[in-house]
Amino acid sequence: MSNDKIPSPENDPNVSTLADLPEEVPNELPHHSKFIDKHAILEKNATLLLVASFAVVTIGGIVEIAPLFWLENTIEEVEGVRPYSPLELAGRDIYIREGCYVCHSQMIRPMRDEVERYGHYSLAAESMYDHPFQWGSKRTGPDLARVGGRYSDEWHVDHFTDPQSVVPESIMPKYDYLLRAQLDPADIGPLMATHRFVGVPYSDEMIENAAADMRVQVEPFGDWDALLERYPGAQTRNFDGQEALTEMDALIAYMQMLGTTVDFSTFIADESR
Ligand code: HEC
Repeated sequence: MSNDKIPSPENDPNVSTLADLPEEVPNELPHHSKFIDKHAILEKNATLLLVASFAVVTIGGIVEIAPLFWLENTIEEVEGVRPYSPLELAGRDIYIREGCYVCHSQMIRPMRDEVERYGHYSLAAESMYDHPFQWGSKRTGPDLARVGGRYSDEWHVDHFTDPQSVVPESIMPKYDYLLRAQLDPADIGPLMATHRFVGVPYSDEMIENAAADMRVQVEPFGDWDALLERYPGAQTRNFDGQEALTEMDALIAYMQMLGTTVDFSTFIADESR
């Protein structure tokens, strides 16, 4: 009983109805993905999902962790890197004691702005004898990884005594008491032994001679041959300009060697990694 005068929607080409839909609704997964449907079993069973996730994480963990048990060292050795001399180690201890790391990091990242400002990016080997390491991201002050040789000893003495006298806008605190704090060479042997305990290759000879090595490093005309044989490239001079062996000597000796042990004019990074 169709009325030709009144067009029904089914016959009207401008109207789409359910009948116009293709046989397969395109929103459905294609037939060949039935395997993926099996995942629904996991998704609907919490215990099974937990067990399966644990299995996946375990396999991933073993693949990443197990090789470390057979590797002797994960740090690529770099020529020039050596354990700290007794005086430098004492300076490092003062650095940690005074909380310098609260404002300063010692890790130059391989990004252009950092490399242009601070120098070659830090190598893992450069902190291999650091316990604890001094990396970090807290930079209220500049990164110190390569501060060695950037300023004179006198600048450091002035800066530590009264930072605002050389950098008026500085917010760094004063450390003038380091000039008056005598350094006791008797303490350094046990400190080195402790570092040896956690893996720094200090020999018996180094530990036996620790106190003498510490004293001779600040002597302007000392006999440094043995010291330099044990710690190649160690800088020898009176760092704070005073006669006494002070904590200022040690801290400046540490500052001045930071980042200077590797010769970057000859260093070639291992590209194969
Ligand atoms: C409250 C934060 C703060 C602390 C703590 C601090 N510093 Fe600084 N340091 C700064 C700031 C800010 C600057 C930049 C201005 C200046 O040169 O004084 C700076 C600059 C320096 C510089 C000059 C670096 C450069 O490349 O110009 C050295 C070296 C330095 N600090 C060493 C130390 C040592 C060593 C200690 C611990 C005894 C220490 N700082 C503690 C904030 C701090």
